Amino acid sequence: MKIVKRILAVVGALLLLAVLGVVLKFYVLSPKMRPAPAMTAPTSPEAIARGKYLVHHVTGCVACHSPVRTDQPGEPYIEEKLGAGRVWEKDPSYPDWEIIAPNITPDKDTGLGNWSDGEIARAIREGVSKDGRPLFPMMPFQTYAATLSDDDTLAIIAYLRTLAPQSNKLAATKIGFPVSMFVRGVPAPLEKPSAGAPPASDKKARGDWLLKVCSCSDCHDTFNEKREPIPGKRLAGGEAFRSSVGKIHAPNITSDKATGIGAYSDDDLRRVFNEGVGKAGRPLYFMPWWYYKGMTDEDKDALIFALRQVDAVSNVVPPPELKK
Ligand code: HEC
Ligand code: HEC
Repeated sequence: MKIVKRILAVVGALLLLAVLGVVLKFYVLSPKMRPAPAMTAPTSPEAIARGKYLVHHVTGCVACHSPVRTDQPGEPYIEEKLGAGRVWEKDPSYPDWEIIAPNITPDKDTGLGNWSDGEIARAIREGVSKDGRPLFPMMPFQTYAATLSDDDTLAIIAYLRTLAPQSNKLAATKIGFPVSMFVRGVPAPLEKPSAGAPPASDKKARGDWLLKVCSCSDCHDTFNEKREPIPGKRLAGGEAFRSSVGKIHAPNITSDKATGIGAYSDDDLRRVFNEGVGKAGRPLYFMPWWYYKGMTDEDKDALIFALRQVDAVSNVVPPPELKK
């Protein structure tokens, strides 16, 4: 009997240690963060124009951070509410989650008006809010850490400072346990800023950078149940998205001829980005083409060039289930 008690005591102690370890890792040592860096956004028209280009047509910040018309192809934002924040329709599989992209206009009370440039830069690339709250990584801060140079980041901030302030108070994003715990472990201080966009003369590198910074993978990769990308299935599609038009699966956009975009001509692909029309002739809803259409022709060509070199993966994606 004595020995059983001893074993139970040891097991109990080990369990307690494991729990303490988890608490230590995710609640004491996380989120990993540093004080906001001292950075100052420029105010030159060139920097503001560069920031506007990125925010509207490349990183697409305004597609996530504005109320949008979900019943229209490409989900255009509502002009008068640019940057005022967005509340997503609830996913029935996660009833206690609320995904809310905050107001990023310069409004002092409800937006970024009283944030320093360094605090905004830290949120964009290091994933913590002004008060140190870890951000849910649907905000693509890891992607931005790997792709946006200091100059790109500051140009984005320079442009955000010129938006019309919108008074729009929103609740914070709410994520259920245990995902909320793991989310705390994601933010990380920037070790070395990215070199930013490669020059247009290096078409492949430029296209790869665009594929990354536009977050194509966040929607078009094939994911497991824990929403981790499955190795070897980059851009092979399948993720389901819900919007007011119904349930749409992200298509396979690898160069596979039968199940991907291998059989598309460059013009077919340009039509996707410029007009939001898929090869089958159907208007594309959830795909943010309405934002990408303002990309320069040179950048679109580089993007298409790089997309064609993604490894072909055979993966059949279910057809859309449109309402009405
Ligand atoms: C795919 C959608 C998406 C994109 C694209 C996106 N964001 Fe976000 N962003 C979010 C969500 C959702 C949150 C809230 C996360 C949370 O609260 O846990 C957020 C949070 C933030 C915050 C923190 C605000 C606060 O009050 O804590 C800032 C600042 C921000 N985003 C700026 C940007 C900028 C600038 C860009 C473009 C470079 C951008 N975001 C692109 C979805 C997005
Ligand atoms: C927010 C999620 C999201 C992002 C980001 C996104 N896509 Fe899409 N994309 C979709 C969805 C969903 C569809 C299917 C839309 C529909 O059928 O209504 C789609 C459709 C497409 C199509 C059309 C395929 C066909 O069936 O004709 C292409 C090509 C494409 N995306 C490429 C890209 C590229 C390249 C990027 C990055 C520059 C990108 N997408 C970024 C969600 C996304």
